[in-house]
Amino acid sequence: MKILITGGAGYIGSVLVNECIKLNYDITVIDTFKYSQTSLLHCCNYPKLRLIKGDCRDKELIKNELQKADCIIPLACLVGAPLCESQPFEAASINRDSIFLILDFLSKSQKLIFPCTNSGYGIGKDNIFCTETSDLNPISTYGKLKVEAEKRIIDNGNGITLRLATVFGVSPRMRLDLLVNDFTYKALREKSIVLFESHFKRNYIHIQDVVQCFIHCLNNYEKMNNETYNLGLSNANLSKKELCHEIEKIIGPFEIIETHGKKDPDQRNYIVSNEKIENTGFKASTSLEIGIKELVRAYTALHPIPFRNY
Ligand SMILES: NC(=O)c1ccc[n+]([C@@H]2O[C@H](COP(=O)([O-])OP(=O)(O)OC[C@H]3O[C@@H](n4cnc5c(N)ncnc54)[C@H](O)[C@@H]3O)[C@@H](O)[C@H]2O)c1
Repeated sequence: MKILITGGAGYIGSVLVNECIKLNYDITVIDTFKYSQTSLLHCCNYPKLRLIKGDCRDKELIKNELQKADCIIPLACLVGAPLCESQPFEAASINRDSIFLILDFLSKSQKLIFPCTNSGYGIGKDNIFCTETSDLNPISTYGKLKVEAEKRIIDNGNGITLRLATVFGVSPRMRLDLLVNDFTYKALREKSIVLFESHFKRNYIHIQDVVQCFIHCLNNYEKMNNETYNLGLSNANLSKKELCHEIEKIIGPFEIIETHGKKDPDQRNYIVSNEKIENTGFKASTSLEIGIKELVRAYTALHPIPFRNY
């Protein structure tokens, strides 16, 4: 299998590359290494890994590399609402237009797996699970661009799109701006969390489950193709406050300060059904408890420097 991964040095990408090495794939990564990350250094002894320091918007580069690949997983992105609000033009060209560029060159025999976000569900209805047919109402620039890219992929007729829940867990390119990672860090290091919109619910998923699901999609491509799937941990539709209590169970008490002065730039309050992907034979299984314990171990070794996208 020849796999092309853009953004492969990122939070998800660097764990995915590791998994692809175990599977003996030919791997090409295109990444700008925007965060000066060293997340793939431990992979460089693998002879079938090619690292290209390049931009996913480079037409010639994408055209040339795509024609050598059996599949592409485009992860390159300005990820998160705050980053996209501050750089809206960059965000549009990277998060949306670079996906359109791939579609211009993708053949029917090649596989495409695209990570979208489930934040497009916006504010859901009380106690009603969002399914893949629920209305989308992305609020942030980030959410809107991801949804536009997803729509074009499905309209194009070849590609699997996954609406990821908020990812948690440890990666060689760590991100502390993700909710579970952030809360666990603050609870551990600062012994307090300031909570706004504390009752807002979200769904979560461990990074290893995301990576295993990409592999599941590759292995079951024909039967899953041209569909969108929610991807989250089904027993983890929790409010921010409930998440704090899960963290408390593991690391002990810390201060929870509730405030009403702030809003999430990506308004999201919903519960999500993952039944459709589960019916294809994949079920996320790494619990919040396992992930929080893993984070606690990692944070013991992490200097307090800003591993954030904003
Ligand atoms: N982490 C999550 O919770 C989550 C949830 C839903 C969807 N996703 C999606 O998963 C993908 C990966 O997210 P992540 O969490 O790994 O983020 P990340 O910020 O760690 O990774 C993005 C990678 O893209 C690279 N990059 C940025 N601009 C580039 C460009 N112009 N050309 C080439 N490379 C470029 C960065 O250097 C980085 O390695 C994104 O598409 C994101 O929208 C992530």
